[in-house]
This record gives sequence, C-alpha cells and structure tokens, in this order.
Amino acid sequence: MSAASPDPELFDKIVNLSKRRGFVFQSAEIYGGFRSTYDYGPLGVLLLRNVKDAWWRSMVQERHDVVGLDASILSPPQVWQASGHLANFSDPLVDCTNCRARHRLDKLDDPDVCPSCDTRGSFTEAREFNLMFKTHAGPVTETAAEVYLRPETAQGMFINFANVLNTSRKKPPFGIAQIGKSFRNEITPGNFVFRTREFEQMEMEFFVPPADSQQWYEYWCQARMDWYLDLGMNPDKLTLRAHDDDELSHYSSGTSDVEYLFPWGWDELEGIANRGDFDLTQHANASGEKLDFFDQATNERYVPHVIEPAAGATRTAMAFLMDAYDEEIVNDDTRTVLRLHHRLAPYKVAVLPLSKKDTLTPTALEVFDAIKGRWMTDYDETQSIGKRYARQDEVGTPYCVTVDFDTLEDRAVTVRERDSREQDRVALDQLERYLAERLT
Ligand code: GAP
Repeated sequence: MSAASPDPELFDKIVNLSKRRGFVFQSAEIYGGFRSTYDYGPLGVLLLRNVKDAWWRSMVQERHDVVGLDASILSPPQVWQASGHLANFSDPLVDCTNCRARHRLDKLDDPDVCPSCDTRGSFTEAREFNLMFKTHAGPVTETAAEVYLRPETAQGMFINFANVLNTSRKKPPFGIAQIGKSFRNEITPGNFVFRTREFEQMEMEFFVPPADSQQWYEYWCQARMDWYLDLGMNPDKLTLRAHDDDELSHYSSGTSDVEYLFPWGWDELEGIANRGDFDLTQHANASGEKLDFFDQATNERYVPHVIEPAAGATRTAMAFLMDAYDEEIVNDDTRTVLRLHHRLAPYKVAVLPLSKKDTLTPTALEVFDAIKGRWMTDYDETQSIGKRYARQDEVGTPYCVTVDFDTLEDRAVTVRERDSREQDRVALDQLERYLAERLT
C-alpha cells in the first residue's frame, strides 16, 4: 500500500464546492432536506454522465464481447427469493437504550459501546434488518401485490441471460452490462454521496466456461484498475484488496475490492467477484427455465461461471471529484483547480468574451455555435476575465477560449489551458482542430 494519507479537510471542501457550484444539492432542501438523498445539479449531472459514459465506452462500446441492458427497477419477490436477497440481504441493527441512536453492529469499533453517547452495554439485541425497499404494485396493498425496488442491477442480467444469449449471437465468454439506479434502505447512510439509499451502479456480468473463470477474474481485476488509472486517478490513492476467506460469500471463489483513499480512509469503489454458477443455477431452479449453454464445438452443456465487476457510479463520481481537487498559490492567491481528466470534466470548453461589449458578443456566440455540437461548452460574459478563469478552473474546464478586441481584426482567439495556465493564440478556422487534438 502507498504512503498517501487521508485528508479529512478535503471532505468539507468537496461538500462546499458541490453545493456552491451546483454539483450536488441536498434533496428536498426547501423542505429542510430529505436525509441521505441528493440531487445532481447542472455540473454534477454532467460529471456523473461523463463517468457513466466512460464506463459504458470501455465496458460495452470498445468490446465485441459485451452487450448492454436496461432492466426494470421494480421486480417481483421471486427474483429476490431466488437470488438470496430476501433471506440474506440484511445488516445487523442495534438500538442504544440510552440515546436511542441506531447503529450497524458490524460497523462499530467496539460492539459494546454506543459511539453517539459513549455508553457501554446500552445496546439492544441485534436484529437483522433487510435492506430492500418494498412497495405494492397496483391499488391493493395486499401481500400478493408486493414488489421490490432492486437493491442491485445485477439480477436483471441473470434473469435475462437466456434472452440475451438467444438474441445477440454471443457465446461465452461474453458479458451483459447495465447502468442504473439501485435502492437500499441503509441503516447508516453517510459520508455525503458515498453511502445513500438511492444510488447508481455500473455492473457487468461476464459469463465464462467454468475452467476459465480464474483467468477471467484476474483479467477483470486488472482491467478495472486500469480504467480508474487511465482516467487520471492518483495511483497512490487506489488499491486492489483481495478479500480474506472469511469475507467471501459462500459461492464466491474470489473477490477483490478496488479501494480509494477517501478523506476518512480507504473505502470501497467497486467489487470484482468470481461468483461461480450460483446465480444462474438459483434462477434456473426457481424458474424452471434452462439457464445454461450448449457448446457445439465440444458437444458439452454447462452453466457458465460469472465474473462480476460491480461499481458505483455516484460513489465513483465523488471519488474523481475528490481526487481532482487541488489548491495552489498563484501570485499570493490560492487558486482552486479541479484537475479532472478532460473526459470527465463537466464542460470541456468555456467561451469568454473579454468584455460584455456588444461588439464582442456576436463573434463570441459564433465561436460557441461552432463548437457546441462537439463539446459541452459554457458561455460566460459577466465579471472580470480573471474571475471567470478562476470559476472555470474551480469546476475543471480544460480550455477557456477568450474573444478579445483583436479577434475582430485578426480572426484569432486566446486559448488558455487549465492546469498550466499557458495561453496560445489560435486562428478561428483552426480552433476546432486545435481542441480536437487535445480533447480526444
Ligand atoms: N451485484 C453486486 C453488488 O451490488 P455491492 O458491493 O453491494 O455489489 C457494488 O455494490 C457497488 O455499488 C459498490 O462498490 C459501491 O460503489 C456501490 N454501492 C453499493 N451500495 C451503495 C450505497 N448505499 N450508496 C452508494 N453506492 C453504493
């Protein structure tokens, strides 16, 4: 593990920046806020979308052996019965009889001491609390109408295994990938968007011949680590931690977590698991459908084994935000800059007329119109140019394009790069090519 250490102050800086600049808002804030739910503002929605796009691009678009899926969020109890979630997807819950605080027993430093009031021996017996949200389909709230909000996207891939196999012409090794919302009634949500009751996941189920599962497991552990690193995450703050035997699910022959050094310490970004044939076998037995594969080359029928890289989109977006945050002293002032990879940056370019004079506006809008179809571009004409550069640095915009009075004469603009603050004079008819070379 690296020599990097957690930075607790960073947490407040990120929460403040998120609110001040419109990345993340507390949900239902005007009603006092709805605990543990968050709304993604104009910049947050772009960052989150870019994280999901980068994942989809690497996991689906750039692969011939993975296809996509968008399964429903509402699902009948049979799915969760077969998956084991109804019986086992629970956390041990204890109540403090002194201060009434509620805690997850498995997350306490000392299982006998309430961290909210420091009382020893004040906990009730632990109760298993199922984390799934239950609701009812249709107008009658009877047991027969009970349905669940999915607590993971993964089961959508397992129950559609035969549909995808029969329609996509894929055969093992192949994967099904999905991005979408999941819901867990977490006992102790917290750390901003790290653990929430409603969140987004990016999961892929990779179906392989049983004999090849260990090799594919190792392949996906490496591939997933590379994804974070290729998007610029600090290697000193990223690690792959293999689960000890006593952490493994009974069906898993190997699980590793991609962990990031958050302001509170190392914590999970993603889990990569070798799940064996557990899921397909469970659903085949419960549904009576065949969920296996007949290999014509070997004349063998087998239940594929599954390697599952399961990441959190919302959690990962926050990790990239924290990782990119930097402060440096420039001319005795502190400059805050988000050194986001350009693929993740909410805006790729900002067009800034030097002054709000009507003479510059038409040309500045002409520049905006010329590039807006290709890159998410901001347009800002208020305040001094220095303040506008600072605003763009703070939200990670890689390039600022300034239209000044010379532009009207020489048909050229000044392009300023975020990290180095270096400036180039670029002819208007070369601007798109200039940016394209740098924003690939
Ligand atoms: N299908 C396997 C699965 O769901 P998981 O480790 O429970 O595995 C995968 O979830 C990822 O989803 C986690 O690594 C995390 O990034 C994200 N995640 C899980 N619970 C979350 C929560 N309450 N809030 C935000 N993200 C969460």
